[in-house]
Amino acid sequence: MEEFDFDQVIDRRGTYSYKYDGLQKVFGTNDLLPMWVADMDFAVPSSVVKAIRRRAEHPIYGYTFRPESYYESIVRWMDKRHGWNIEREWIQYSPGVVPALNMVVQGFTDPGDGVILQSPVYHPFFHAIHLNHRKLLNNQLIKLEDNTYVFDFDDLVEKAKEAKLLLLSNPHNPVGRSWNEEELRHLGEICVENNVLIVSDEIHADLTLPGHRHIPLANLSEEIACHTITCMAPSKTFNLAGLSTSSVIISDPEVRKRFKEITESLHIGMGNLFGMEASQAAYNHGAEWLNALLEYIQGNIDYARSFLKENLPEIVMSPIEATYLLWLDFLNTGMTGEALHDFMISKAKVGGNDGSMYGPGGEGFLRLNIACPRRVVEEAFTRIYNAFNAISK
Ligand SMILES: Cc1ncc(COP(=O)(O)O)c(C=O)c1O
Repeated sequence: MEEFDFDQVIDRRGTYSYKYDGLQKVFGTNDLLPMWVADMDFAVPSSVVKAIRRRAEHPIYGYTFRPESYYESIVRWMDKRHGWNIEREWIQYSPGVVPALNMVVQGFTDPGDGVILQSPVYHPFFHAIHLNHRKLLNNQLIKLEDNTYVFDFDDLVEKAKEAKLLLLSNPHNPVGRSWNEEELRHLGEICVENNVLIVSDEIHADLTLPGHRHIPLANLSEEIACHTITCMAPSKTFNLAGLSTSSVIISDPEVRKRFKEITESLHIGMGNLFGMEASQAAYNHGAEWLNALLEYIQGNIDYARSFLKENLPEIVMSPIEATYLLWLDFLNTGMTGEALHDFMISKAKVGGNDGSMYGPGGEGFLRLNIACPRRVVEEAFTRIYNAFNAISK
């Protein structure tokens, strides 16, 4: 069995990494541990490097197309990993999930139409609504006593009456929920009854942690499938975000036809040569790497949870069922907004994401990306602890 070394610290500075080389521009300083942008500090599976190297050695990188083997690798992955039996024809290409969300908003709704999201949620969902001049309908998540989040179904029933589209994060970034079958079925049925189309953004599906199971929304019933456009990608799973390759899975022929018209009009279908090679290699040979990765991430989450419990009990961490993103509640510390931002950047020197960027419900929270070697996670929490002690004196 191949050994995977997730403990290895790899210097990413000087590689045009947004997470590292973008620090100065975004935070005003380079002097931070970068734990913000959602990519990982781990090397990709060796099969991916080999596939890219092999292709790079041929010195012509002209227009391309995706071969049948590319589609077959996705079909097999969805079946094996998620028990979802999809057909090859259902798979459409998009350079990214966020572009796909926007294409759906533009192609399936009109300016002024209601689009639902569920805050706190990944901030480009807001942009997809505002920048396309649609009406934002926020079906805010409910936070329970134990810091778990659930859907607000009573509110959803009302919002669905005036909505054309719902943008779902499944699993949810940033609150870490892997929505269960009952929750998804209920949400799907409300949308079907009100003829609301759903974009189920399942980019974090493969990062569902041990003990939990990802449910593809469109696999729940024929009716729900007809109302669902699913976005999937190897980018989060295998750390390939710079290769611009993702899939939009649509079983309904009419919905698929419309989506195809949009991608054809934009002429983006040819895609990225290296992304295609990497995606195939990862789906075909990356399962063992992914299993080891998920164990490692779980270890990082466990470390963070016990560190906070022992040393900083006023910072509350939500249960994480999927993703490598911690969702930390600082409200008990009395620091929100500017004060929290200043504490993290000037005092702790850890670059996380302010919760407020994820909309209502995010104020006073911090999203921290722990997809990095354990010793970096340890360093981050030690920095936060020391900074806390310094300001409490
Ligand atoms: C929920 C969610 N959707 C989409 C993306 C990004 O997708 P892409 O880079 O394919 O546009 C992210 C990245 O963090 C995400 O968390």
